[in-house]
Amino acid sequence: MARHIDILQYPETAIATASATLADGLPIGLPTETVYGLAADATNPAAITRIYETKGRPRFNPLICHMSDLAMAERYAIFDPISRKLAEAFWPGPLTLVLPLRPESGIHPLATAGLDTVGIRVPQGFAGELIRAFGRPLAAPSANTSGKISATSADHVHDDLGERISLILDAGASIVGVESTIVKVEDGEMRLLRPGGLAAEEIERVAGQPLKRKNGASPAIEAPGMLASHYAPGAAVRLDATAVLPGEALIRFGRPDIAGTENAAIVLDLSPAGDLSEAAANLFDFMKRADGSGAATIAFSSIPDEGLGEAINDRLRRAAAPRE
Ligand code: TXA
Ligand code: MG
Repeated sequence: MARHIDILQYPETAIATASATLADGLPIGLPTETVYGLAADATNPAAITRIYETKGRPRFNPLICHMSDLAMAERYAIFDPISRKLAEAFWPGPLTLVLPLRPESGIHPLATAGLDTVGIRVPQGFAGELIRAFGRPLAAPSANTSGKISATSADHVHDDLGERISLILDAGASIVGVESTIVKVEDGEMRLLRPGGLAAEEIERVAGQPLKRKNGASPAIEAPGMLASHYAPGAAVRLDATAVLPGEALIRFGRPDIAGTENAAIVLDLSPAGDLSEAAANLFDFMKRADGSGAATIAFSSIPDEGLGEAINDRLRRAAAPRE
């Protein structure tokens, strides 16, 4: 059963205990501003293997490597000018850059699934401090069983993985609430591999050029982890609902008029004021609560596809995708 440490109350204990656990090759539950990660030493093959085993994650799905700052990232990957500009503007923050891996970087091929590129991100706050203290990059996927809803609190991590890991650091709810935006620069063009907690519009504004979406190509080819069915609650998921059936759970956005609302098993509003950042922060927690209501179906009202709405709609489409 995992030990919990509150990082706000006991920051030094958290750093010392986490560093010792990581040095033993064990993964830990690590709070970041996007979601909680299942973090382990990216240079230690046994530690990375434990991440895949703990999550039940397919090994062809590479992990994001977390660094303390841009200087550390430059030791492991080769930056083109656009990627460097994005890193300077948005790190620490919810942006992952896919970059050519430096030969002999020390990051183990198990972390990158053998690719010659690496996904790198510099997280905000405590996670960055821990990496600085530990001195090595941390590979960290979201701290949930593969295919299930991502964890945005220490309790979520505990409920899902508490029996399988030894340490969970608790920093309260993740402030962004959806995973990082993943961008890859190729031949001077920026491509969006995964919409996430940094709005595409902000990236385009800083870079002064458009972020190319994949046009019909399978996302599985771009970012191997982007399997269609993902973020799946136990209940079925129905999108763009304009009416809710008796007994369904309803997750809405911005107080819309949804027929039958009074007969829903549970009604949760991602943001009554219609704020997409607030909606992103609530998304996974509300999905778990709706799932916990026992309803067989969760109906979602439509959510605008701009700003963080792009990441929210991406997660909802995956949650609604046919299950294997
Ligand atoms: O916010 C986040 O990004 C969270 C927190 C913990 O940092 N992490 C996260 O990791 O979402 P994960 O493993 O759930 O998602 C990693 C995604 C996968 O879709 C994977 O395919 C993609 O990143 N990825 C990693 N390395 C890649 C690479 N070299 N090329 C293309 N895609 C890559
Ligand atoms: Mg994940």
